[in-house]
Amino acid sequence: MLADKDRIFQNLYGFQDWRLAGARKRGIWDGTKAILEKGPDAIVEEMKKSGLRGRGGAGFPTGLKWSFMPKQSDGRPSYLVVNADESEPGTCKDREILRHDPHTLIEGCLVAGFAMRAVAAFIYIRGEFIREREHMEEAVAEAYAAGLIGKNNVHGYDFDVIVHHGAGAYICGEETALIESLEGKKGMPRLKPPFPANVGLYGCPTTVNNVESIAVAPTILRRGAAWFAALGRPNNTGTKLFCISGHVNKPCNVEEEMGIPLRELIDRHAGGVRGGWDNLLAVIPGGSSVPLLPKSICDTVLMDFDSLRDVQSGLGTAAVIVMDKSTDIVRAIARLSYFYKHESCGQCTPCREGTGWMWRVMTRLVKGEAEVEEIDLLLEVTKQVEGHTICALGDAAAWPIQGLIRHFRPELERRIAQKRGAKPAIAAE
Ligand SMILES: Cc1cc2nc3c(=O)[nH]c(=O)nc-3n(C[C@H](O)[C@H](O)[C@H](O)COP(=O)(O)O)c2cc1C
Ligand code: SF4
Repeated sequence: MLADKDRIFQNLYGFQDWRLAGARKRGIWDGTKAILEKGPDAIVEEMKKSGLRGRGGAGFPTGLKWSFMPKQSDGRPSYLVVNADESEPGTCKDREILRHDPHTLIEGCLVAGFAMRAVAAFIYIRGEFIREREHMEEAVAEAYAAGLIGKNNVHGYDFDVIVHHGAGAYICGEETALIESLEGKKGMPRLKPPFPANVGLYGCPTTVNNVESIAVAPTILRRGAAWFAALGRPNNTGTKLFCISGHVNKPCNVEEEMGIPLRELIDRHAGGVRGGWDNLLAVIPGGSSVPLLPKSICDTVLMDFDSLRDVQSGLGTAAVIVMDKSTDIVRAIARLSYFYKHESCGQCTPCREGTGWMWRVMTRLVKGEAEVEEIDLLLEVTKQVEGHTICALGDAAAWPIQGLIRHFRPELERRIAQKRGAKPAIAAE
């Protein structure tokens, strides 16, 4: 179990003061100038050594991402964009940073922005997050007033932080849709290349990072890459915020070491599965986009990027959705299919048509109103959507269904057989 001294987020539950005075007591804004004095390249190297992988879902190495930004400007400014859209069902960690520890993020913006030679950070906050936005705005105003950011600040690096409130759309969490939305346009993903590091916000070099990825950076740099890299497992280092919801006795957010066994995470922090571990049916381990895992895999799987990839799922945002045996698993996945159909921006045909098609078949499968062959047809359609779209929403719509068919095909077949049995013989022909 992660020791208290190794927790980065000391006010995750909001028991202490979130304002500047409280943040300073927790060591935030401590020695920030000394970090900047190491220089941008040394900071990027240190981040690479820490092994931090992006906390927004894809797990891309953060230091490496920062190194893609231009070292010399061609006349265009560079920007950091913080992704605080957090709309993945099950995920509720970034909002706690925004509400209870906003200065960790602002300090992170300065450090990351400096390392990437950016002139400003834009924090894009999900439309539904009202209190979160209020706290962020107040904390940013405090940081300006105290001369921590802005022109001629105490750190000797002019840097602006702008809080932007989105209108509330899941697709605006996709980094290029987010950039479009920030520019005042409809949140529709862009084709890549060009990548944001070349052509991003307002056509300028831009890096988009998740809230947690940026908020952990100052502590990593203060305590050293070796400290962070010693936690977790190789290639899956550090601490991570886990969001545990569903059929557990005490749903919670908790910061834990990467690679903690799923069972230990649930038992230790969430009071165990409702009705005991043997009452577990399945877990979605990384937010609604990743394939579910049946109990047999949950018994032993470790919670990190590589371990979950090895069992054909993913760590995603580390939002652990627990389902006990009372769950109608087909209906649960069908509900997610509806979500993805609803959130598709409609730009590409496989996603626009495929998400609706998959949802309609899923709706019939809930009641067993399908032919057995349609299970394979559905699987085939998920494969035609996956990897054939502009952004990863198509994959996100396909993967939960693939997980369901992989692990619960007998349940799908049982429903079809049951429905047929219930019908008059002639209609079943
Ligand atoms: C449909 C969709 C929604 C996404 N929503 C979010 C989100 O709410 N927050 C987030 O940080 N990343 C989200 N992402 C991932 C971002 O595109 C991007 O990879 C991430 O912000 C990069 O940050 P990181 O490198 O720090 O993880 C989403 C991706 C897709 C395809
Ligand atoms: S995959 Fe879906 S959400 Fe993404 S760009 Fe295409 S239509 Fe839009």
